Amino acid sequence: MSDSPVSRRFTRRECLRWGLGGLVGGGLIYTGFIEPKWLELVRIDISVAGLPASFEGYRIGQISDIHFPRNITVEWVQQAIAMLRAEQPDLIVVTGDFFDGHGQTGVVPDSTDLFAGLTAPDGVFGCLGNHDIALDARGVLKELTRSPIDLLLNDHTILERRGDRLALASIDDLMYGTPRPDEALGGIPSGTPTVLLAHNPDTAELGIGDYRVDIQLSGHTHGGELYMPFIGEAYVPSRYGSKFSRGLVSGAAHRVYVNRGLCSPRHARFLVRPEVTLITLTPAPSSTG
Ligand SMILES: [Fe+2]
Repeated sequence: MSDSPVSRRFTRRECLRWGLGGLVGGGLIYTGFIEPKWLELVRIDISVAGLPASFEGYRIGQISDIHFPRNITVEWVQQAIAMLRAEQPDLIVVTGDFFDGHGQTGVVPDSTDLFAGLTAPDGVFGCLGNHDIALDARGVLKELTRSPIDLLLNDHTILERRGDRLALASIDDLMYGTPRPDEALGGIPSGTPTVLLAHNPDTAELGIGDYRVDIQLSGHTHGGELYMPFIGEAYVPSRYGSKFSRGLVSGAAHRVYVNRGLCSPRHARFLVRPEVTLITLTPAPSSTG
């Protein structure tokens, strides 16, 4: 006995329906529950012209956009810290949005356990993000004095190795802060290679005077959080469209590396895994003329 053509067509439709339903359901589960917790360690070499020999191979670990406690737990942050520390970076930087009050002023949460174990031989430095300032900039500053993180606010520090120097500077957030290039970068000895922390990658598009910046480290855009092939990112909070969504980008002023962030404030990520970054500084090849 065989099925009639009508019943065969009905069966195919049912199969198609169930297949599509499974695909959509699987995609939603992946986007909402799997990828937001699928942390990636991104390793990248960044060349610096005139990098002193003592800093060749210097390793900087980067964490960005924690947004605690919005959709993120202490355990998740500790997992990211452990992943980064296992790589034994010389220095760790946190490029803003430590905390998140959903854009509202509020009480800064206790961070005692959040940053436990966050150490590196040359220290841990950070800059504020727009969400830190929106929550309570003073409160965040006070809370972070209890953490292993040294905040640089329109300021810099000089790292020294066997008489060689590398500058680590930080400039305030573009959205809610007051960026002051003269305070952040003025006073750095001439010719010193400089790493600039700036939460918002758009900073790489703006003029900072004649100051030298070899690489800017940023976060803020979260890679757009949802990426559809051939279409692009769902939303990138930048004046320059998707240019600064992620990765190494050349800005009008200097290059910037954009970390995709740890947190997923909208509970979803697709093809934009949360990230910790290990940056290795390498000497730029000398130009031949
Ligand atoms: Fe941000």
